[in-house]
Amino acid sequence: MNILPVHTIAEVRNLVRFARQNGSTIAVVPTMGALHEGHGRLIEKARAECGFVVVTVFVNPTQFNDASDYVKYPRTLDADVAFCAARDVDVVFAPAHEEMYPQTQQTYVDAGEVARFMEGHFRPGHFRGVATVVVKLLNITAPDKAYFGEKDAQQIAVVRRVVDDLNIPVEIVTVNTVRESDGLALSSRNARLSPDQRTMAIALYEALTAARNRIAAGEQSAVEVKRCAASVFARYPAVRPEYFEVADPARMTPVERIDGAVRLTGAIWVGQVRLIDNVLVMPGSAGD
Ligand code: PAJ
Repeated sequence: MNILPVHTIAEVRNLVRFARQNGSTIAVVPTMGALHEGHGRLIEKARAECGFVVVTVFVNPTQFNDASDYVKYPRTLDADVAFCAARDVDVVFAPAHEEMYPQTQQTYVDAGEVARFMEGHFRPGHFRGVATVVVKLLNITAPDKAYFGEKDAQQIAVVRRVVDDLNIPVEIVTVNTVRESDGLALSSRNARLSPDQRTMAIALYEALTAARNRIAAGEQSAVEVKRCAASVFARYPAVRPEYFEVADPARMTPVERIDGAVRLTGAIWVGQVRLIDNVLVMPGSAGD
């Protein structure tokens, strides 16, 4: 079926109100577009669970700590709308910058500790922008359920905390990371990798896997686990690791001793492209 993107807040609110009056549960899948199978999995889950599915496509400037990353971020609205139509989405909400930020934003959402380490540390202001735009999108679409990918595990932790702390009546639903056959997590930024860089991009998942295996074999020291990851990165001289961390999965704070589930999470630079990935690890098991 063909669908047209909706550009105004008033219009999307009307459509949602109408769907709710007709008894549908409302799903929102927030995205920045350049949709791929990772987003596809979120959309399919939303479609399976809810009567009315809204996909938002908005490259949110307030979460980009690097201006050139914002400029270079792929914008493919026509293809995104076709992608959504093929998956039976009801509405694609694609607001212009002026619709979302008609005046200088003065009110921001800060999730505190959960947003402090890892991505929060290396991308100052990033989660403030994410939390703020997610609250705006939730207020605009008023969904029953909102869908997020484990690929951005810290983002999920931030969103959960914000929704709890601000009493936002929405259920947060999460979906496992979708990967290429070699393990590389799907990302809109992968499109910017040259063929050479693409072969090196696997370093991060390889490091995560090696570290996970160490924990599964009984390693309890985060320092040792990080050393194990570093030895993988050493085999990829063209890759610049930014961080590799062993974190408490709910608080997203670094741990030193592993005596429960942990989230291994890392970021690397391959040329000018920054990639992130993570895995959840249960001690004594192979994890997810
Ligand atoms: P974006 O990077 O477009 O991602 C939109 C959603 O798709 C996020 O929940 C993300 O975790 C999920 N996703 C991306 N790649 C995935 C993969 N390989 N497997 C599973 N899920 C994947 O995340 C954002 O946009 C923005 O920060 C946003 C929440 C929209 C706020 O601007």
